[in-house]
Amino acid sequence: MNELTAVYSQEPETQMQALKELYEKVFDTRWDQRIFQEKRVTFDRWLCQIMYNYDQPVAFKLGYFFDKDTFRSWQGGVIPEFQGQGIAKILIRDQERWVREQGGKIIQTRSFNRFKNMMILNLKMGYDITGSLEGEAGEPKIEFSKQL
Ligand SMILES: CC(C)(COP(=O)(O)OP(=O)(O)OC[C@H]1O[C@@H](n2cnc3c(N)ncnc32)[C@H](O)[C@@H]1OP(=O)(O)O)[C@@H](O)C(=O)NCCC(=O)NCCS
Repeated sequence: MNELTAVYSQEPETQMQALKELYEKVFDTRWDQRIFQEKRVTFDRWLCQIMYNYDQPVAFKLGYFFDKDTFRSWQGGVIPEFQGQGIAKILIRDQERWVREQGGKIIQTRSFNRFKNMMILNLKMGYDITGSLEGEAGEPKIEFSKQL
């Protein structure tokens, strides 16, 4: 049986080991500390959400305010064995609640066609498509936003 616990922090450094481990499991790509550090020094209001099953990290969501009103939900995912159990929905709802409490008005997030489950989930959770950008290697990057 699962015993899920959410640990939320405004200082992602305190959860660095779990973040790195989760990112690498979810995306099968190495965590790049340099990219994180660049963002970390540019933006100062962060929310780092980690979901644990007992002491095993199983899901994460990481984002920051990029202006007074707008929170950018930057990265997130659930490890394969724990997908389909409603964990991503819990993290989204908790993120929305926190951003609203902080006085935020909009949550914005970006995704790619290869993450279709995330795009479906964004639409189901009331996010609208508000733009498209060109990602690396010309891959379209779809922008979603939700007014809180
Ligand atoms: C996308 C992801 C975060 C969803 O996490 P999850 O905990 O499995 O999602 P939930 O169980 O909370 O599901 C919520 C909704 O998402 C959608 N969804 C999730 N997995 C899905 C799937 N395999 N197929 C279709 N829809 C799916 C459903 O609409 C579901 O709603 P429902 O419960 O009413 O059916 C997870 O699959 C993941 O980490 N994927 C790989 C990484 C990724 O895509 N990250 C985002 C990059 S932008």
